[in-house]
Amino acid sequence: MHKSEPIIQQLQSRRSIGAKFLEVPVPEISQYLDAVKIALCQPDHKKLHPCRVVLIEDTAKLGLLFKQGALALGATIEEANKAQSKATKAPATLAFIAKIDETNPEVPIHEQWMTCGAFASSVLTSLELMGFGGKIVSGSSTTYPEVNQALCDSGERIIAWLMLGTPKVAENKPTERPDPQNYFSIWS
Ligand SMILES: Cc1cc2nc3c(=O)[nH]c(=O)nc-3n(C[C@H](O)[C@H](O)[C@H](O)COP(=O)(O)O)c2cc1C
Repeated sequence: MHKSEPIIQQLQSRRSIGAKFLEVPVPEISQYLDAVKIALCQPDHKKLHPCRVVLIEDTAKLGLLFKQGALALGATIEEANKAQSKATKAPATLAFIAKIDETNPEVPIHEQWMTCGAFASSVLTSLELMGFGGKIVSGSSTTYPEVNQALCDSGERIIAWLMLGTPKVAENKPTERPDPQNYFSIWS
């Protein structure tokens, strides 16, 4: 994103940026809180707030849990070392954590997941608008019991990671996007 562009153009030209194309600086705590404040303004039926975010301060410790998780699933040492390295790839790593109330009589599960998606996407785009870049990733590390035990409270699960930093290249290469006409229609 280019900060001098109007906000609509910045949002229309956004793209995800993977860990190897990111560097420091990373957001200040107050910037994370601003992004979460925006994410908490997203549509949320009955205000269940089903998603939260955790900043991983000790990524080396998370890496050890990734390795442990991979080994427990039968990975070779090489594969486990690769899993471990994923935790320290980005200048900053955050976890999105969901708590879905499967028995809520008024808010079906899919609506709660919609709110989680809007929340996560909103955290990323808010930080992008502040000049940072990143990418939401998942993979088997989100399912490792060791990692979920470390980060989640009862009834919660990790949905995805946000790899974050400052884009090494400030300009966004244009990304091919679908024609909005194909995703909008008028019914009468
Ligand atoms: C919940 C979730 C999990 C994702 N997991 C991965 C992943 O593990 N690896 C990956 O390359 N992209 C993953 N993506 C997609 C990227 O975040 C990104 O949207 C995609 O690379 C397209 O880039 P764009 O945002 O610029 O369109 C995931 C997206 C979401 C919403």
